[in-house]
Amino acid sequence: RQLRGLHGLALLLLALPLVTNADADCPCEEPTLCRPIRHHPDHEVFVFDVGYKTWKYYDWSQITTLAAFGKYDSELMCYAHSKGARVVLKGDVSVKDIIDPSFRASWIAQKLILAKKQYMDGINIDIEQEVNCSSPEYDALTALVKETTDAFHREIEGSQVTFDVAWSPKNIDKRCYNYTGIADACDFVFVMSYDEQSQVWSDCIAAANAPYNQTLTGYLDLYSRNVNKDLIVLIIVYYTFGGSLLNFVQKGYCTIAKVPFRGACSDAAGRQVPYKVIMKQINSSISGGQWNEDQQAPYYNYK
Ligand SMILES: *[C@@H]1O[C@H](CO)[C@@H](O)[C@H](O)[C@H]1NC(C)=O
Ligand SMILES: *[C@@H]1O[C@H](CO)[C@@H](O)[C@H](O)[C@H]1NC(C)=O
Ligand SMILES: *[C@@H]1O[C@H](CO)[C@@H](O)[C@H](O)[C@H]1NC(C)=O
Repeated sequence: RQLRGLHGLALLLLALPLVTNADADCPCEEPTLCRPIRHHPDHEVFVFDVGYKTWKYYDWSQITTLAAFGKYDSELMCYAHSKGARVVLKGDVSVKDIIDPSFRASWIAQKLILAKKQYMDGINIDIEQEVNCSSPEYDALTALVKETTDAFHREIEGSQVTFDVAWSPKNIDKRCYNYTGIADACDFVFVMSYDEQSQVWSDCIAAANAPYNQTLTGYLDLYSRNVNKDLIVLIIVYYTFGGSLLNFVQKGYCTIAKVPFRGACSDAAGRQVPYKVIMKQINSSISGGQWNEDQQAPYYNYK
């Protein structure tokens, strides 16, 4: 017992200068709020935040992690930590560069410095770039995720490293990634179950952003590649694509302009319409709120 007491004192003395230094720059009213979150919840409710102080309206009793895709906001970090929620950085890098192991090491080191400076709890790697299956980038990407995870876990206790994947592993938008390897290399992967019309190979017909069957097919394809199911988290979005239609063929069936994306006609023909606008527009729309049985999705027509 005495021994333990002494150890405790020694640890306290050693730890004291470090803690004081770290807490000195802490922007939160309560300096302990700058410490990383260590608790691991049973399930994640992860929010991708794009800024504008919308976080003030979130239901923080549900949120476990927030990825800060907007401008850094220390007030948000302090608030999230006070609610036991993690705040993580966004990580993006050119896949051409990551073939070089020393480039990867310096990129990871930079992100770690930033994460510590901003009192963040990890990083969400969001590389939405084309990768050829037989290219050196293919394995380099898996290596980047593994090395980032190892470094963050080592340097920031309790930290979290995650990766965003397209709604299906079938080379969506020419992204050939090692899904199994990437999922195993990080804490979990997010399936971006939206923007599923980024490449429409059949007729150029307007469709739901995330039709039910298409979403399900994407998951089944991931499972069939033995991606660990426990590591998969669904993402839904609060927007859709709207835009001018070429031709109103029949109810719920409209052709869209050919604005190709990587070789196919695409939702690039429209523009993103946020949830807030949708909820206003629906009331003044021609059709009012409708339900498409085939796609299991709501829609409306408007002028
Ligand atoms: C993938 O391969 C195609 C054709 O060989 C090439 O045009 C393209 O630049 C490559 N993309 C990347 C990211 O290396
Ligand atoms: C994916 O990555 C893992 C780990 O690096 C490797 O063992 C596996 O062979 C890769 N799988 C494919 C299909 O490339
Ligand atoms: C959705 O998938 C199920 C099962 O594969 C299939 O039976 C059904 O016809 C599909 N519905 C549409 C609208 O494609």
